[in-house]
Amino acid sequence: MIATSQQWALWSCALLLVSPTGAFLPPIHPRQLDPTTFNWSAITPTADLRYHPCFDSFKCARLRVPLDWSGTAQNLTSVTRKWRRDEDGGAYAAIAITVLPAVVPPTDPSYAGPILINPGGPGGAGTDMALAYGKALQQLVDTPGERHFDILGFDPRGTGKSTPSAMCYPSEFDRAIGALQLASFPSVSTEIGLMTQFEYLRGEGQLCKSNEGNGDIFRYMSTASVARDMLEIVERSAVLNGNGTRVGRRCAEKPRLQYIGFSYGTFLGNTFASMFPDRVGRMVVDGIVDADDYIAGIFSKNAVDAEKAIDVFYQTCFDAGELCPLRQTQDGSASDIRQRVDSFLRSIEESPISVVQNGGVNLITAFFVREMIRTALYNPIRVYETLAKTLAGILAGNYTGLFSPNTQEALCQQVPETSPPQTYTWAREATSGVICGDSYALAGDRNVSWARSLAARVIAQSPTTSDGWLRVALGCAGWDISPDYVFHGPFGSPAPGNKSAPAAPLLILSTEVDHATPLENAFTLSRFHKGSSVVVQEGIGHCALLSSTSNCTSGIVREYFRTGTVPANGTFCASDCRPEIPFKGCPGLPGSA
Ligand SMILES: *[C@@H]1O[C@H](CO)[C@@H](O)[C@H](O)[C@H]1NC(C)=O
Ligand SMILES: *[C@@H]1O[C@H](CO)[C@@H](O)[C@H](O)[C@H]1NC(C)=O
Ligand SMILES: *[C@@H]1O[C@H](CO)[C@@H](O)[C@H](O)[C@H]1NC(C)=O
Ligand SMILES: *[C@@H]1O[C@H](CO)[C@@H](O)[C@H](O)[C@H]1NC(C)=O
Ligand SMILES: *[C@@H]1O[C@H](CO)[C@@H](O)[C@H](O)[C@H]1NC(C)=O
Ligand SMILES: *[C@@H]1O[C@H](CO)[C@@H](O)[C@H](O)[C@H]1NC(C)=O
Ligand SMILES: *[C@@H]1O[C@H](CO)[C@@H](O)[C@H](O)[C@H]1NC(C)=O
Ligand SMILES: *[C@@H]1O[C@H](CO)[C@@H](O)[C@H](O)[C@H]1NC(C)=O
Repeated sequence: MIATSQQWALWSCALLLVSPTGAFLPPIHPRQLDPTTFNWSAITPTADLRYHPCFDSFKCARLRVPLDWSGTAQNLTSVTRKWRRDEDGGAYAAIAITVLPAVVPPTDPSYAGPILINPGGPGGAGTDMALAYGKALQQLVDTPGERHFDILGFDPRGTGKSTPSAMCYPSEFDRAIGALQLASFPSVSTEIGLMTQFEYLRGEGQLCKSNEGNGDIFRYMSTASVARDMLEIVERSAVLNGNGTRVGRRCAEKPRLQYIGFSYGTFLGNTFASMFPDRVGRMVVDGIVDADDYIAGIFSKNAVDAEKAIDVFYQTCFDAGELCPLRQTQDGSASDIRQRVDSFLRSIEESPISVVQNGGVNLITAFFVREMIRTALYNPIRVYETLAKTLAGILAGNYTGLFSPNTQEALCQQVPETSPPQTYTWAREATSGVICGDSYALAGDRNVSWARSLAARVIAQSPTTSDGWLRVALGCAGWDISPDYVFHGPFGSPAPGNKSAPAAPLLILSTEVDHATPLENAFTLSRFHKGSSVVVQEGIGHCALLSSTSNCTSGIVREYFRTGTVPANGTFCASDCRPEIPFKGCPGLPGSA
């Protein structure tokens, strides 16, 4: 490596900043276990779940599923038949699975089966989340002596360690060149920035289509296919429990899904619950994506609360007085601080600043600084202090802090795709594969007029975070691959008591102010799932369970997994911590000891 590690840190951070897989992806905190220590290709994919020891106390499997579930939508009888055929040589995907086993053996009466998890994205790897979060989630859901769960992370088809891989670029080198080009384009809030990005991403869509060599995975990675894969995991897990009989269930009873989905994972959960309502056992969704907005691909909702979340940052700084380095003595309110930062951002939109450091040239652009702010919103409690320091330095023309490894670590680690460092590099391609394939619109409709109205819509919601969102949205510009097996609704599930209803109503979580999945989406979702309940957790951040600890929320989640009961719709839960400058710690919040 020619670059010093320090330069590399910045460079790789900048690269990752331009690939915001984080559209609907919450942050994951520093892992304890190195994901590269296990050789996945040493496992032969099988149609039954065969687990192998991995990562100390975990177990891993590769589940073989048909690549194409179409023609079998709700009909499990015919699926089984089709499956037999595929088993004899049809095209298939291998789903990577990592499980943190329950603290009791499956034969124990308190063993309560697996809870599947999805970290969002789309594109987030569930195997990574199981490693990073498994223990914390298990402690959250277990009722000692009564109910003990496996935490099961899987990589949705096309992503992570699942195969085939949703890659458009033929090599890492080509992928890095693509990312560098994207990093150098002007902000989408300028005409030339918008047109350059539209055209580049349109080309990238064509590149993805031309790549026929990879199992044609892009035609088969809709969210509906992933939901069907989850059902397969549930079926196979049930068969596997204990000594091969279905533990704790009467044979006639169909096994049901137990699930926690974050961010995009709420759309995945919603899709599953709508396609297979009578196969839902427990479902917690946290940080809600609006399903109709998502499948229309219009991005009219995601960022409506983003500026509100940014205001909380400036208010936190103002309230900290002289302890916040970004506050100046003459400031009369939080908006004085904001105006100073915003006018700086406008100035570098036109004239970026080059900084020579460690034998390299780094360009500080509006895009770079805005992405720094946007990604900090994923983790307000942990990151506000670092953000304030770094912004104060930049405004004063002091870039030492910006380029220090500590700052890079603090800021970059909060970038969803760097924490944990993605164990795969084609996350942005996978994200497009899912988002674009799920949405109605076809490439022909996604022309320049489409790009302009999309940009206007997103910028109107949030000027500060629009660059990040638009790179995701414009990723569909040239997308011309329509999966057959898709689910476009109607979304919803019947009331408890109905024979095709979930065993327990959905438990829906949100913070008060979420910059990526606003609270109003949670209430919208609840209207379609009868008997469901929204719990609103005090404070800001993306996803309640991940942005702060809350004894109240934890209690509700544990009780839900124990008995299936939800509290009153609209229940408010206080948070145990709130963002402060300087950061004072938040016991129990992963990564903030
Ligand atoms: C992983 O396993 C595959 C198949 O057994 C083998 O070919 C490969 O060399 C292994 N890789 C490493 C790094 O051990
Ligand atoms: C399901 O598939 C089986 C076998 O292909 C067929 O006999 C049955 O009619 C189907 N049921 C429905 C509800 O489509
Ligand atoms: C398997 O375990 C169950 C209890 O979980 C028991 O009832 C059953 O007899 C066992 N079957 C065999 C074949 O050991
Ligand atoms: C620049 O920032 C660094 C790190 O934040 C700090 O240590 C240093 O004192 C600052 N330099 C000046 C001239 O303010
Ligand atoms: C873009 O597509 C829309 C919908 O298909 C069409 O009405 C419009 O005329 C197109 N605009 C341009 C500039 O091609
Ligand atoms: C059960 O739910 C279905 C779908 O929502 C509905 O059509 C049906 O009327 C319900 N049955 C009863 C008994 O409520
Ligand atoms: C929960 O409350 C929201 C907001 O008042 C409402 O729109 C929704 O229909 C309620 N959900 C249920 C299942 O009643
Ligand atoms: C935490 O919540 C539980 C109920 O879930 C309650 O019994 C307990 O007193 C709470 N602890 C604190 C410190 O608030």
